[in-house]
Amino acid sequence: MMNRRTALKHLGGAASTLLLTEALRSEALSNGQAAAPPVAAAPTGPFSLPPLPYAYDALEPNFDAQTMHLHHDKHHQTYVNNLNAAVAVHPELAGKTVEQLVSNLAVLPEAARTAVRNSGGGHANHSFWWPTLGKGGAAPTGELAKAIDAKFGSLPAFEDKLTAAAMSVFGSGWAWLVRSSDGTLAIETTPNQDSPLALGHKPVLGIDVWEHAYYLKYQNKRVDYVKAFFQVINWDYVSGQFAQKDKV
Ligand SMILES: [Fe+2]
Repeated sequence: MMNRRTALKHLGGAASTLLLTEALRSEALSNGQAAAPPVAAAPTGPFSLPPLPYAYDALEPNFDAQTMHLHHDKHHQTYVNNLNAAVAVHPELAGKTVEQLVSNLAVLPEAARTAVRNSGGGHANHSFWWPTLGKGGAAPTGELAKAIDAKFGSLPAFEDKLTAAAMSVFGSGWAWLVRSSDGTLAIETTPNQDSPLALGHKPVLGIDVWEHAYYLKYQNKRVDYVKAFFQVINWDYVSGQFAQKDKV
C-alpha cells in the first residue's frame, strides 16, 4: 500500500508541492520539532503617529531638529507601534481612544495593562505635548493667566515650581501642570510614561524629562533643557486649551 508521501509524488504540479510541504510539516511536528510560526504583519492601527504641527527645526536653537526627528519619528512611533500590538490581541478594547484607555487602567485586561500603561501613556503624553510647543505667545493669557497667578503668585514663581518638579524626577518621567478634579491647578510628576489622566487630572502643560528628549543637545544638563523648554511653549495654544474646560 502506498504511503502518504509516495502517493503525493504521483500528483503533479503545484497541488502536489503544496500537499508535500504540508505533509513534511506534519511529519516535523510529529517528530517533536516546532514549525516556524507564520509571520504576521505588525498592526498599523488603530493608533497612528500625529504629524508634528510645525517643522522639525521650528524650535531651534532650544530644541534641535535632530532631537525632534528622533523623539517624534522614532520614540513616539515606537509607543504607537507597541500600543497597536497590545490592543490587536484584545478586541474588547477596540474603539477606545488612547485617553480613555490610560484614564482607567484598572478595567483593562491584566495582560494588556502594562503595555497600555507604558505605550498608551507614551502615545497620549507625546500627542498632548507636541502642540503645546511652538512659537505662539510669550506668556499665558485669559483664564489660564488668572489661574496661574491665583495659584502660584506669578508666572516666574510658577516656572520655578515646575522647574523644581522637573528636576526632582528620578530617572525618566514627566513634570506637569494639571487641573485637578476640583478644577484647581496643581504641579505633579509622573514616572515613566504614566499619564495624569490615570489620576483623574487633566494635563495643562507638561515637560518630558526622559533623556531621549534632551541628551543629544544638553547631555546631563537637564536644568538647561528645562530652561530651554520655557522658551518654546506655545502659550496661545495652551491658554486656548485651558479655556475649553471640558477638553482633555
Ligand atoms: Fe519623550
